[in-house]
Amino acid sequence: MKKIAVLVSGGGTNLQALLDAQSRGEIVNGEITAVISSTPDAYALERARNAGVPGHVLARRDYPSAQAMTLALVDKLKDLSIDLVVMAGFMTIVTGELFAAYENAVINIHPALIPSFCGKGAYGLHVHEQALACGVKVSGATVHFVTEECDSGPIILQKAVDVLPDDTPEVLQRRIMEQCEWKLLPQAVSLFCQDRLAVDGRMVRILPQGQPPAALTGGFK
Ligand code: GAR
Repeated sequence: MKKIAVLVSGGGTNLQALLDAQSRGEIVNGEITAVISSTPDAYALERARNAGVPGHVLARRDYPSAQAMTLALVDKLKDLSIDLVVMAGFMTIVTGELFAAYENAVINIHPALIPSFCGKGAYGLHVHEQALACGVKVSGATVHFVTEECDSGPIILQKAVDVLPDDTPEVLQRRIMEQCEWKLLPQAVSLFCQDRLAVDGRMVRILPQGQPPAALTGGFK
């Protein structure tokens, strides 16, 4: 059983989707054993408490640098024997030490179809403001492995929805959360926990159930 830590900063609706999926038995071979928040008063911590999952706070302002905070985060994750780190609305910059310690084991949900509307300044509602300003006809969400380069690690799952003529950023955000994010993130976490994600460069192949992980078969060609 893989141990999962969910990193949050705010409302935590994606955390809730994971907790709900877990209670329905949809996170196969995985268990959310920790929630770590970058803000002490995040509502996500309340959601963790309600689900009986231990919550921890790791605030950037308590550390002299992003690197110092990242090192403290890695220590905490190792102390808790975490196998998979899920960024679910985690709005704090982390440095390379996290990805060195958890190579291809940190995943993030982004509320757009990467490589559109991502990178610096593209977070939360801003992403949907950018999409509407650009006049796109579809947008959506992406779950990807996190690497040092912002929002550009190997893509695990994506899903699109239509952008409608009268959409506001809030309306589009809600549609993307409901129809994309809250479905994709639990699916990706469950696939990871079943060793069904084989990473080869920028490509992620989803292995059929029951197939040994690529590492055991010498990778896929
Ligand atoms: C979600 O829409 C998530 O995709 C986004 O922040 C929101 C957090 O909501 N993440 C990013 O923009 C990361 N670049 P939540 O706290 O209710 O899950």
